[in-house]
Amino acid sequence: MRKAIEELVAEHHLIEELLSSLEKFVERLGRRPDGERAAIRDYAFFFHQMVDVCHHGKEEKHLFVKMDAYGFSREKGPVSAMLSEQDEGRDHLDALTSIGNGLGPLSFEERENVRGHALGYIMRIRIHMSREEDVLFPIVEHSLPDFVLEELAQDFGEFEKTKLPAGFHENLRQIADSLRKAAADPI
Ligand SMILES: [Fe+2]
Ligand SMILES: [Fe+2]
Repeated sequence: MRKAIEELVAEHHLIEELLSSLEKFVERLGRRPDGERAAIRDYAFFFHQMVDVCHHGKEEKHLFVKMDAYGFSREKGPVSAMLSEQDEGRDHLDALTSIGNGLGPLSFEERENVRGHALGYIMRIRIHMSREEDVLFPIVEHSLPDFVLEELAQDFGEFEKTKLPAGFHENLRQIADSLRKAAADPI
């Protein structure tokens, strides 16, 4: 696997770990109401930063741009499908963010909305990532010349340096660790 694609797949694995953690959190909703709203805010923050800002930033600003130049239009076909799936994920995340930013314990209705949006998000992002790994990335490796894939790896490095704030990954790692620990805690 080429370096740029390897980097995207490694990010998928990290995202999947937190999707599994969110799934555990949702299974236990209502059992420990105190920290629920803060946890939702942290999950939404993690996914917004890791998935939308970092990972989809690399895909949308670099990978899909290069694919477009090689005949894979953003208007139709696999790239267009990936873009609409990414937008569907953002809608669920916006709903979780707004609940996470509220005050006090979750109401019954909010808890139901968290369950629906979190499970919808988990399902969509899982399907999205497996479609990329099973279909899109093999197309990329098959269709884009080696030098373009090397440029892509450099573009990702530049993106990390110039578009992400200092300490970005360390900050997310700490949030992810505490969310994973809380979700694994037997109640
Ligand atoms: Fe994607
Ligand atoms: Fe991806």
